[in-house]
Amino acid sequence: LNSRSTTGYSAYEECRATADWLLSSTQVRPTVGIVCGSGLGGLAEMLKDPQVFKYSDIPNFPRSTVHGHAGQLVFGTLKGKPCVCMQGRFHLYEGYPIQKITLPMRVFKLMGVETMILTNAAGGLNQDYKVGDVMIIKDHINMPGFAGINPLAGPNDDRFGVRFPCMSDAYDRELRQLALDVASNLGYNDFLREGVYCVLGGPSFETIAECRMLHSLGADAVGMSTVHEVIVARHAGMRCFALSLISNRSVMDYDSQEKANHEEVLETGRLRAEQLEKLVSTMVARMEHNNNTY
Ligand code: HPA
Repeated sequence: LNSRSTTGYSAYEECRATADWLLSSTQVRPTVGIVCGSGLGGLAEMLKDPQVFKYSDIPNFPRSTVHGHAGQLVFGTLKGKPCVCMQGRFHLYEGYPIQKITLPMRVFKLMGVETMILTNAAGGLNQDYKVGDVMIIKDHINMPGFAGINPLAGPNDDRFGVRFPCMSDAYDRELRQLALDVASNLGYNDFLREGVYCVLGGPSFETIAECRMLHSLGADAVGMSTVHEVIVARHAGMRCFALSLISNRSVMDYDSQEKANHEEVLETGRLRAEQLEKLVSTMVARMEHNNNTY
């Protein structure tokens, strides 16, 4: 489709072609985009009158390779609001160019999406956190970004956004407040938290020394996703809200026998899935239209 697509760079034309293909394949005109993290694919099953597209059938889309990620886009309505749901996302550790990982954000933007809701499973660095806690992300630490690994690296396309986008307002204050209100109404206060998410490249989990370092740097949870997507979504002027399900406690001391593993991540998802779905669907029901001018 475009000479740049072979380099992984999400050129405007490439995203436009994918958005147009989807717009001509579904009647749904989504204003809300949802990304389901590991073990949280059930969010997509809440959509009414679902229309499903496998990633392998969508032009320019990468494929999902991770167990626990279905690898499809689901269009439908959630509490009457038109939504698109990524059931499975892309990660740095799968070996994709970072621009490919975030391509869906630009496609969603071109389809008319105004608000992104992203979920993930994460390790709890904060020692007050328990397995099964849900953390509203209030800020992030982009560790790969320190090494120049940023989805916006490379030529900037002004049709998407500015060269140097602000990130101090990445996680929308109103949506975080809405989440707190909804959680309080639903009686979820005892497991709801708010904190800082740190992204690493993975796929190996952190060492004990790395967990200690990240915690001392101000991170409450650590994972391998979300931040790249948020950067690209904010660049394009979409509002972002993100949640981490704490699937395991990061090992912080050398006497511990605990070991992080992917099965534990998926199992915690199953335990909290229903409440997380209820939280997100109630938020969507109560969401106002995006009137941010960016
Ligand atoms: N570390 C990194 N990513 C994760 C973890 C973790 O402990 N748990 C779930 N995703």
